[in-house]
Amino acid sequence: GSGHLIAPSILSADLARLGEDVDKVLDAGADIIHFDVMDNHYVPNLTFGPALCRALKDYGVCAPLDVHLMVEPVDALVPQFAEAGASCISFHPETSRHPHRTLQMIHDCGCSAGLVFNPATTLDYLRHVMDQVDLVLIMSVNPGFGGQRFLPVALDKLRTARAMIDESGRHIRLEVDGGIKADNIRAAAMAGADTFVAGSAIFGAQDYRHVIDAMRAELLP
Ligand code: DX5
Ligand code: ZN
Repeated sequence: GSGHLIAPSILSADLARLGEDVDKVLDAGADIIHFDVMDNHYVPNLTFGPALCRALKDYGVCAPLDVHLMVEPVDALVPQFAEAGASCISFHPETSRHPHRTLQMIHDCGCSAGLVFNPATTLDYLRHVMDQVDLVLIMSVNPGFGGQRFLPVALDKLRTARAMIDESGRHIRLEVDGGIKADNIRAAAMAGADTFVAGSAIFGAQDYRHVIDAMRAELLP
């Protein structure tokens, strides 16, 4: 339905022509832009920081920027990304000494807040902060790299998260990230996801619109 959002990850974009590539993927029907921040500490890879976020905004990108922090510690970067134009800031609860405080800080900075769960991270972190969360992100790969294979263990986690969200009665998005392609997006949606990150599947294709259309076709009832 119309509640589904496609979120291309710029990790797999043409970084030397990032502004143009982001324009191109938005023209092709993407809803939001997923921005993967890696620190070579929490994850074994290094990407980009608030300056690139700001540069995309200054270039004229209007679509919401969905910032996925894979950094430890996380707190110092929250105000920096908020000032740089992030719409939503998500972090892995184990990267903050006080996840409740970090969620509060994200809201105080005027952004939506998300919690991210690795394949082996328990959803227990969620239970006591449900009223502080606008997005739950379920990793369907181990964080650190694009182009990995979707781990089916994520489907169970999505179903559990979906039940917790529905029970809360709050409007919380359920995002899935890692190895999403046209041939597994439907399974993720059936398990409860409504927001779909895809890096290599979209930016690795010749025709972005073709891939995004194929994904949306799989999401039709
Ligand atoms: C992995 C990142 C993902 C990644 C997705 O740590 O969080 O967002 O870029 O890339 P694909 O879709 O190629 O798995
Ligand atoms: Zn991500």
